[in-house]
Order: sequence, then C-alpha cells, then structure tokens
Amino acid sequence: MYNAGKVITGIIIFLIIVLSPFWYNGLTGKTAYVPLLKVPDTAKQCVESTQYMKENHMELLNSWKETAVRQGKKTYTAKDGKTYGINLTGTCIKCHANKEEFCDKCHNYAGVKSYCWDCHNYPKTGAWEQKTAGSRK
Ligand code: HEC
Ligand code: HEC
Ligand code: HEC
Repeated sequence: MYNAGKVITGIIIFLIIVLSPFWYNGLTGKTAYVPLLKVPDTAKQCVESTQYMKENHMELLNSWKETAVRQGKKTYTAKDGKTYGINLTGTCIKCHANKEEFCDKCHNYAGVKSYCWDCHNYPKTGAWEQKTAGSRK
C-alpha cells in the first residue's frame, strides 16, 4: 500500500478526536449522559453534594414540600451544617436562575415532565431569559 504512513496517521488522529470526550469523562469521573448545563457561577456548591443532588434532588424537593407545607418548617439544615430557606423559587432558582438552561435542559434530555411550574413561579429576570424571551416555546 502506498502512503500507508499518512493513512495510519490520519486514522490515529481521527480516533483521538472521536474518543477524546470519553477519555476526558473517564479522567474527570464525569459521565456523558447529561447535556452541558449552566451551573451558577455565584456559588461553588449546591445545597448538598453534586452527586447527591444529581441522584436525589426530586426526593429532597419532595421532603422540602412536606416539611414546609405539613410541618410549617421553613429551614433546611444540610449535611455540612449550612442552613437554607425551604423554598423552590427563593432558594433553588435563586442560584439556578437560568432554569431553562439547567433544570429544563436536563429534564428535556431525560424526558422528565415537571408540573411544579404550573403553580410555582420563577423569576424571568436573567439576561439570557430577557434576550430570548421572544423565542421561547
Ligand atoms: C397545584 C399547585 C402546586 C403544584 C403543582 C406544586 N406546588 Fe409546591 N406548593 C404549592 C403551594 C400552594 C405551596 C405553599 C406555599 C406557601 O406555603 O407559601 C407549595 C409549597 C411548596 C414548597 C415549600 C415552599 C416553597 O414555596 O417552595 C416546595 C419546596 C414545593 N412546593 C415544591 C413543589 C415541587 C417540587 C412541585 C413539583 C413536583 C410542586 N411543588 C408542585 C402549590 C403547588
Ligand atoms: C447556593 C447556590 C445553590 C442553591 C441554593 C442550589 N444549588 Fe444546585 N447547584 C449549585 C451549584 C454551584 C452546582 C454545581 C456544583 C458543581 O459544579 O459540582 C449545583 C448542582 C446541582 C445539581 C446537579 C447538576 C449536575 O451537574 O448534574 C442539581 C440537580 C441541582 N443543583 C439542583 C438544585 C435544587 C433542586 C436546588 C434546591 C433544592 C438547588 N440545586 C439549590 C448551586 C446551588
Ligand atoms: C442533571 C440532570 C437534572 C438537572 C440539572 C435537574 N434535574 Fe430534576 N430530574 C432529573 C431526572 C433524571 C428526574 C427523574 C428522576 C426519576 O424519575 O427518578 C428528575 C426529576 C425531577 C422532579 C420530580 C419529577 C416531577 O414530578 O416533576 C423534580 C420536582 C425536579 N426534577 C426538579 C428539578 C429542579 C427544580 C431542577 C433545577 C433547580 C432540576 N430538577 C434539575 C434530572 C435533572
């Protein structure tokens, strides 16, 4: 075969480019199952660890609702001792202000339909929302 060297180099470069996301994920411990999410840059950490939130935010929200509505308790003490106001909009959405690029993006990807926003409000004040308000579905 002529030019075998070039062909093989091409194949190797191709494989590096195609596989690099997997190596990246492998090295950083991140999995590729979620789309790129906008996490807030105003805070470094969520209420609980990211892994915990990934897996349990629905249960956490559910128990928040129970404690707030049934027991009238308005604060949540996290595992690290920090306290947060029990409030979907005032706490979660205060940090995750870009609901569309965070909650919704992942939910759309995972096929989750959330009815919470039928009643709960979220402030549409972020720059991103303002800019694209006209084009929202
Ligand atoms: C039918 C309307 C309705 C729907 C749908 C609904 N909620 Fe609520 N929720 C309420 C009301 C009313 C309160 C009480 C507000 C208060 O006490 O100020 C509340 C309170 C809460 C609270 C505690 C206080 C607060 O304002 O955040 C949480 C947390 C909560 N809901 C989470 C959820 C989640 C998560 C969903 C979706 C799975 C959901 N809710 C869907 C009506 C609703
Ligand atoms: C103090 C600000 C803050 C509050 C309040 C907050 N978050 Fe977060 N949250 C973050 C940050 C920052 C990250 C990303 C952390 C990281 O990069 O590892 C995050 C990560 C997450 C993740 C994981 C995303 C992923 O990468 O898979 C979920 C889910 C989540 N938050 C949901 C919630 C919910 C639901 C609430 C309310 C109960 C909430 N957050 C309240 C700041 C916050
Ligand atoms: C990393 C992906 C991801 C992010 C980010 C995320 N969710 Fe979810 N969420 C899921 C998945 C997956 C489920 C379904 C889990 C199941 O069915 O066990 C879910 C389920 C839920 C549920 C229960 C389903 C229902 O009845 O509506 C609520 C409430 C919820 N998410 C709220 C939020 C809120 C609020 C945010 C943003 C602050 C958020 N989620 C961000 C992945 C995510």
